[in-house]
Amino acid sequence: MCGIIGYIGKSQAVPVLLDGLRRLEYRGYDSAGVAILDGGKVEVRKRIGRIANLAELLKEKPAAGQIGISHTRWATHGGVTDANAHPHADQSGKLFLCHNGVIENYAVLKEALVREGHTFQSQTDTEVLAHLVGKAYDAAGGEPTKGRLIEALRVALKQVVGTYGIVILHQDVPGVLVGARRGSPLVLGIGKGENFFASDVSAIIAYTRDAIYLKDYDIAALTAEEFEITSLVGGASGFEVTKVDMTEEDVSKGDYAHFMLKEIYEQPATVLDAMRGRLSREEATAVLGGLEMTPTELRNVERIILTGCGTASHAAMVGEYVIEALAHIPVEIEFASEFRYRNMPLPTNTLVFCLSQSGETADTLAALRESQRKGHKTLGICNNVASTIARESDGGVYMHAGPEIGVAATKSFTSQVTIVTLIGLLLGRIRHLGTTEGLTIINELEALPAKITRILAQSDHIKKISEKYSGAHSMMFLGRQFNYPVALEGALKMKEISYIHASGHPSAELKHGVIALISPEVPSVFIAPDDSVLDKNISNIEEVKARKGPVIAIGTEGNTKLAKICDDVIYIPACPDYLSPILTAIPLQLLAYHTAVHLGCDVDKPRNLAKSVTVE
Ligand code: G6P
Repeated sequence: MCGIIGYIGKSQAVPVLLDGLRRLEYRGYDSAGVAILDGGKVEVRKRIGRIANLAELLKEKPAAGQIGISHTRWATHGGVTDANAHPHADQSGKLFLCHNGVIENYAVLKEALVREGHTFQSQTDTEVLAHLVGKAYDAAGGEPTKGRLIEALRVALKQVVGTYGIVILHQDVPGVLVGARRGSPLVLGIGKGENFFASDVSAIIAYTRDAIYLKDYDIAALTAEEFEITSLVGGASGFEVTKVDMTEEDVSKGDYAHFMLKEIYEQPATVLDAMRGRLSREEATAVLGGLEMTPTELRNVERIILTGCGTASHAAMVGEYVIEALAHIPVEIEFASEFRYRNMPLPTNTLVFCLSQSGETADTLAALRESQRKGHKTLGICNNVASTIARESDGGVYMHAGPEIGVAATKSFTSQVTIVTLIGLLLGRIRHLGTTEGLTIINELEALPAKITRILAQSDHIKKISEKYSGAHSMMFLGRQFNYPVALEGALKMKEISYIHASGHPSAELKHGVIALISPEVPSVFIAPDDSVLDKNISNIEEVKARKGPVIAIGTEGNTKLAKICDDVIYIPACPDYLSPILTAIPLQLLAYHTAVHLGCDVDKPRNLAKSVTVE
């Protein structure tokens, strides 16, 4: 949700900034802009649309210089216009600022500034922040030093309510960039004779492996050779230099047409990585040291809450079924956006898990903080190890899935489901599950990667099916039990990347209203593996067929009934009910992917979406 990169050093800034912005484009792609210190003057270029448009503009009107800041925007306040694109200038026209986050009290601040004679060029909350810092800088007077700029930022930020990751460039303070964060991520990259600010390390790994993940209320100042980090309240702030182990290959598409396809195909490896080193055959259980809980503490857990947003909430919902089935502990799932404002009566021994690929989703972070405020042990299931949720949680389990760049989540879903299954196994084994049952679960988990590979081999078959139905305006996704959340996820994938309206339902809910929508023009996708509810699903399929609705089924290899009644079937290898979501999700990802490609949609960057939603 908005990406920032700032550069100060020995190279030309524009190529570095454009390269970084392309890697951050998953965070937003409504508009992009740069501010470059060119000679003694700051040159600004901004344009709506993708980074490619900005690159075009920079070809027409180049900007040379070794210091610059840049931004790719996901619009919150103010429409998608060139004027609303960042960087924004202050009243003097000398200070430029890029921002990721939301200034909640911007309207009040703006009103006061307008009364003082400030004029605004945009409808954004960000421009208000630029004016505030500029005003404080101008009011301080004296020499144009780094210290004066830092102090002005401090004065301004104390007036602000909201979230921010910001970088600032001032024409009169040429050798310096300053940045700050509260609630939105900001990383400092340390190079040799060059330094960087970025929303995420992927933007800077081509240049340096040394990064500092700034903390909330940190203010950092960079020159080409040095950096200093202080706290908003004054005084130095502690930091740690992290060696980033992400490779450039991790953040490139390789030979794949899209990041989404690459990430779908990575799943045999990522599911394995989610369980690697976490299964003990000797004890027939899962070993999750990151939870930082003793067996007694785990045995005392009375209730579990799983919370997250989007795809993570669907993985959480699978977790509800799996953990209840394996561990017999009551589990509830809550959208993080609801949980944060709900005051649920919960027993003291409630364990809360926050699921988030990015570890930066604003609602999930707020849910984590609210849960901790109530005294609940709150654990993270995150992919991004340096993320705020990962750092603030009381422990957790990392996904180790590698960067997920396609905006539509794929491999993170199967990794999250693998992890909640490990949690179910662990909690089950210290309650009622025997060694034999534990070993069976381990064997089945270990068999998953090869089964996923077999599903991926059917991509061409799935592509043909997708082409057959790509003219549909509406689609239904139906499943029962463990696969009801997969129906929701299948519908989400379809609508977010192909723009075909799709909705997911429990199969039996069909006849309570949804059936009114069934017609020859509305295909239904039934997730109907050979499980305890197969016959019930088959009855629901018959109900759709009786109303001439086309049916695509996800069934189990060897099943002969589905092919007789359904129009198309995609087969998955047999597996226990509780593991089937990890397999059934994959054909649905491919179905959405091929449909979107066939329709000419921008698969990796669907309209209106952003990968990491760091605003409420
Ligand atoms: C956004 C993304 C979704 C993602 C959700 C939660 O809406 O578009 O793909 O599932 O955020 O993201 P998280 O990083 O918290 O898993």
